[in-house]
Amino acid sequence: MTAPLRFAMVGAGWWAHRAHLPALAADASIEFIAVCDPNESRANAAAREFGATAAFTDVAAMIDAVEIDCAVVATPHTTHRPIVEALLRAGVDVLVEKPLATTADDAWSLVELARELGRTLSVGLTYQYAETAAQVREIVATRIGELVCVNAEFSSQTEGLFGTADPAAAHLDDPSVPHGVSYADPRLSGGGQGQTQLTHLLGNLLWNTGKQAREVFAYMNNRGLAVDVVDALTFRLDDGAIGTASSTGTTPEGSAVRHRIRYHGTRAVLEHDLLTAEAWLFEAGGGIRHIENPHDQPAYALSRPVPTFARVVRGEIANPAPADVAAASVALIEAAYISAAEHRPVQVPRGAVHVSKEP
Ligand SMILES: NC(=O)c1ccc[n+]([C@@H]2O[C@H](COP(=O)([O-])OP(=O)(O)OC[C@H]3O[C@@H](n4cnc5c(N)ncnc54)[C@H](O)[C@@H]3O)[C@@H](O)[C@H]2O)c1
Repeated sequence: MTAPLRFAMVGAGWWAHRAHLPALAADASIEFIAVCDPNESRANAAAREFGATAAFTDVAAMIDAVEIDCAVVATPHTTHRPIVEALLRAGVDVLVEKPLATTADDAWSLVELARELGRTLSVGLTYQYAETAAQVREIVATRIGELVCVNAEFSSQTEGLFGTADPAAAHLDDPSVPHGVSYADPRLSGGGQGQTQLTHLLGNLLWNTGKQAREVFAYMNNRGLAVDVVDALTFRLDDGAIGTASSTGTTPEGSAVRHRIRYHGTRAVLEHDLLTAEAWLFEAGGGIRHIENPHDQPAYALSRPVPTFARVVRGEIANPAPADVAAASVALIEAAYISAAEHRPVQVPRGAVHVSKEP
């Protein structure tokens, strides 16, 4: 049997508690070494509860003090670049939460650094870890013909989170609920609905199409907050396909949210429901094929990124959420922010995507 991979958790907030800490504690092939969070009581409590041997308040101090092979990073968006860079330079393979970074420069430079150093860099784009994700990607690549148009929609109940700028109301000491300031303060979040939700939608769309965006025109509404709450984008992809993506954080409590992408090809149309992890292929001639999520698999696979990443690091499987495709979505989102602010179409800075279009 191979030696267990030694892991650290960086950031012990809401998402670490919901998704990654339980997964780190549950995986027998992982030795859970350390938790790091500047909030000392959170770091200590998480280490105790999930069985890590050490707790730290600073990433550099953790790197100096303990030997780790891998780290999971779930911290506010604008901290991703420096934390991931320090870990990669220390020889650590990294699974970082979405968005990979908040600017194209930061995202592409992390991709280049990981490549130079020969390290694995994966992103917590949860939809790409669903049981049906690879099948949906294969159908987009092989069954719909030429992609001519794509329409994507993501609605959620995030407006309240974006309005929690007051630290007193932000559950600073309770990791069982989202910590509003991380999302409401643009210095930490880099933006609202775009960085928090569009990143899921566009990350998945670019992963499934194997294309990068070339140009975008966007409108955004902040609804009086410091970050965007409602976003609408029109964009051009490689090879002439065009698309739209809209995302709103205003869905009323109790009302159904939608996370959907429709790929219009010359031979067939594929509709992907990310929320239920199922899809429908509408073929020429009227045939309909349903891609169903297996009943024993979660539609939102929040505990799968950690064990999947461990298998990627061991070389057992391909990376289902590689950083280069995630960087292409960061670039598109940053260009959309510029477009919305300046009321003009914006070219999307492109990088070297090495992941094959074929599944
Ligand atoms: N994949 C998903 O579905 C999903 C869902 C929710 C959140 N997320 C992502 O997870 C990340 C964290 O979100 P959250 O809701 O847990 O936020 P949070 O504010 O609850 O937790 C962030 C934690 O990071 C800590 N932190 C801040 N700076 C740090 C640093 N330099 N080093 C170490 N720790 C630091 C904070 O003290 C806090 O405990 C974000 O990137 C978010 O977008 C992903």
